[in-house]
Formats: sequence, C-alpha cells, structure tokens
Amino acid sequence: MKDRTRREFIIDSAKITGAAIGAATLGCEFLLPLASEAANVKFPESNCGVENENGHKVLVAYASQCGSTGEVAEAIGEVLCQGGATVETKWVKTVKDLNGYGAVIIGSAIHKSQWMPEATEFVTNNQHILSKLPVAFFLTCLTLSIPTEKARRKAMTFLDPLYAEVPQVKPVSVGRFAGVLDYSKLSFMYRTIMKRKMKKWGIPEGDYRDWNAIRSWAKDIHFKLSDGRA
Ligand SMILES: Cc1cc2nc3c(=O)[nH]c(=O)nc-3n(C[C@H](O)[C@H](O)[C@H](O)COP(=O)(O)O)c2cc1C
Repeated sequence: MKDRTRREFIIDSAKITGAAIGAATLGCEFLLPLASEAANVKFPESNCGVENENGHKVLVAYASQCGSTGEVAEAIGEVLCQGGATVETKWVKTVKDLNGYGAVIIGSAIHKSQWMPEATEFVTNNQHILSKLPVAFFLTCLTLSIPTEKARRKAMTFLDPLYAEVPQVKPVSVGRFAGVLDYSKLSFMYRTIMKRKMKKWGIPEGDYRDWNAIRSWAKDIHFKLSDGRA
C-alpha cells in the first residue's frame, strides 16, 4: 500500500463533497443520493450481564459507516459479560453521557487512515472523565486484511492523530482488527471510489474479521479494565 493513501482518500472525499455541492447548486438535487444514499445499514445496540454490587457498567461505544464494527463491539461486550461484567454496547452517536460507567471501550472503523471523526470527537468531548476511567480502544480496517509486516506497521499508526489530540486519555490496551469490505452497504459514490482503491490495494470484497482474535483481546482487556471499578 502506498503512503499516498490518506491524501488520496482526502482528495476523493473532497470530490464527493464538491460533486454534492455542485449538484445542489445547479439545481440537480436528484443527484445527491449518489453520494449520500445509505444502503440497508444497521448500527446494533445491546445490553448484557447482570447489575453488579457497585452498579458500575462497561460501555462499548463504536463508530461505523456500514455496521460491521458494531458487530465487533457486540462480540467484545459478550465476552466481557461472560466474564461477569455488565455491558452496554452503543453506537457512539447515541451515547448521551458517561455517568454510571466504570470503564469504557471505544472503537471505530478506519477512514482515511484514522478513526472516524465521531469517535475522535467523542474522546475529545469526554477527555476529562475518560482520563480518570480505565479505557481501551479498538479499530477495524482493511489494511490488516493484507498479511504483511508493512501493512501491520501502517495499522500501528492509525491512532496517532487521536493520541496527538487527546494525550491525557491513555488506553490500557488497543485492539487492531481486519474488517469488512461489503460494496452492497456503500452508496454509489463510495462504492465507486472504494472499488478503485481496493483494486489498487489488491483487496477483494469479503469479511476479514478474525473472531478468535477479537474475543481473545476482549478476554485480555477484561482483567486490565477491572481495576476494581467495573
Ligand atoms: C470511506 C472509507 C474509507 C476507508 N479508509 C480506509 C483506510 O484509510 N484504511 C483502511 O485500512 N481501511 C479503510 N476503510 C475500510 C474500513 O475501515 C473497513 O471496511 C471497516 O471494516 C468498515 O467498518 P464498518 O462496516 O463498521 O463501516 C475505509 C472504508 C471506507 C468506506
């Protein structure tokens, strides 16, 4: 994969925005769905586990465009519940505040070589409380569907912009997982862009999630997050 990746995604996104604005300006509003149409995407939310004596719950919040990161978040939540925690899994856009949570796990699909903006914004807006709670991060991406050391190294850099923005929020662990490429969940514009990119990167459509790796990370962080609070 080339280092130009991030720049290319930014240029392509600018083209989409430009096309959308252009369509609206020219009175061609009927073209807007090409960029924005949401195709049958669900953002799962669930609760599991029984209330523990201190009343503290674990929040697993996630950002996603096509929904598959929500399924990863739910799998992480289930493992924590099997270990005795009380867990709420939520789409990050529906989390109102962090009252009542004893630990927080935040994850996001990678877009343009970093977390989606709503995930970063969530950490930034809640940095004061998150800097005092046990916190873990995770990400899903397609870079990790390429089994090379170069791809692995690239994926290690995806959270650098977040660390630079909120250095005081220190995760006890970071999970990095391969994600999903499902063209049926993308709008026409994104589908066109992604098909071109993925052809270049040599990644065919598919579900690259490694559930064993995801569950084993969740098991591991349960102990790290515990810290007597969740
Ligand atoms: C607009 C867009 C940009 C993306 N940018 C990257 C990227 O820069 N690097 C990468 O490895 N994966 C990238 N991906 C792949 C997603 O991170 C991956 O498909 C993820 O599993 C999608 O999760 P979701 O189903 O929750 O949206 C991108 C996907 C989309 C749709």
